[in-house]
Amino acid sequence: MKLSVQLAPKNKRGLLLANPVMTASGTFGYGTEYSHLFDIQRLGAIICKGTTLKPREGNPQPRLAETPSGLLNSIGLQNIGAKAVIKEKAPVWATWRVPVIVNIVGETVDDYAQLARELDGVAGISGIEVNIGCPNIKAGGAEFGANPKTAAEVTTAVKASTSLPVLVKLTPNTADIAQVAKAVAKAGADAVSLINTLKGMAIDISRRRPLLGSISGGLSGPAIKPVALYMVYEVAGAVDVPVIGCGGIATSSDGIEFIMAGASAIQVGTASFANPRAPLDILEGIEQFMKKEGIEDITELIGVARG
Ligand SMILES: Cc1cc2nc3c(=O)[nH]c(=O)nc-3n(C[C@H](O)[C@H](O)[C@H](O)COP(=O)(O)O)c2cc1C
Repeated sequence: MKLSVQLAPKNKRGLLLANPVMTASGTFGYGTEYSHLFDIQRLGAIICKGTTLKPREGNPQPRLAETPSGLLNSIGLQNIGAKAVIKEKAPVWATWRVPVIVNIVGETVDDYAQLARELDGVAGISGIEVNIGCPNIKAGGAEFGANPKTAAEVTTAVKASTSLPVLVKLTPNTADIAQVAKAVAKAGADAVSLINTLKGMAIDISRRRPLLGSISGGLSGPAIKPVALYMVYEVAGAVDVPVIGCGGIATSSDGIEFIMAGASAIQVGTASFANPRAPLDILEGIEQFMKKEGIEDITELIGVARG
C-alpha cells in the first residue's frame, strides 16, 4: 500500500511525506513532548508551535474555554522564539525520520522575511508553514490573511528569503478564502493549509465579562469541521498547488472526508488534547479503510468526491 504524498512538487527540495497525517501547529508542541507517548516517527510530518522572532509570553489568563464540540483559545502565540528553536529543537529534529515544519508568525511583512531567512538551511527543518491568521500591526491589526493582497505580500517576502518548501496557512476569517488561496499560490506558495481557527468569544455571566482574558479567541475542534471541509473543497477547486486540510479532524473518517474533498494531506489539532495518539489512530484508520476498499495508493482518494 502506498501512502506517501508530495506536498511541494514545484520546489527543488520537495516535501515528501511517508503518509498524509500531520500534527497541527500549536497542538503538538515541538513534537519532543510526545515522543515518549507513542512512535511519532510514524507520522507524515510534525508542525511545531507558531514561532516568532523573539520569545513571547502570550495573552492574559484565562486562555482556554470549552464550547459544545469545540475549544476556544487565546494562547497569544506563547513560544520560545526562533533562536531557541534553532539552537535547542532543530538538533533533536535532525535525528528524526519524520520531517518537522516550523510554523512562523510575524507582526510585519519584514518579521516573516527575517524568520524565513533565519530558518533557511538549518538541519532538522524540512519546511516552513506561514501563519497569516494574525494581526498586521502596520495595517491597524487586520489579519494578514484576511485579504488577498497582504496575504500575497507575506508569501512573496517569505519565498524570496528561503529555499525551503513554503506552506501558507489560510485563515477562515476572510470574505473569500478561495481568492486568498489563489493570491498566495500565484505569489509562489508551494502548498496551502487550511483552516486556522474561527474567531469567537464566550461570556462569564456571573462576572458579566468576557470569559477569555483577551476577549476573543479562536474556535477549533469538531464544531468547525463542516466549515473547514467546505473551505478545503472550494480552495482545492481554485488552486493547482497541494491543499492540506485541517479543522475538527478527530477520526479517520473525518480525515478521509478532507482527502476526498481534495486535500493531499491532513492536520490533526484539538483532537490531540483529548487523545495524544489521535494522529496515529487516524493514520491507522486510513490504512484500514484503504485495505477494506482495495485502494493501493492514497493519491487515488484525493478529490474523489469532486466528481
Ligand atoms: C491551543 C491552540 C494553539 C494553536 N496555535 C497555533 C499556532 O501557533 N499557529 C497556527 O498556525 N495555528 C495554531 N492553532 C490552530 C491549529 O493549528 C488548527 O489550525 C486549528 O485548531 C483547527 O484545527 P483543529 O480543529 O483540528 O484543532 C492553534 C490551535 C489551538 C487549539
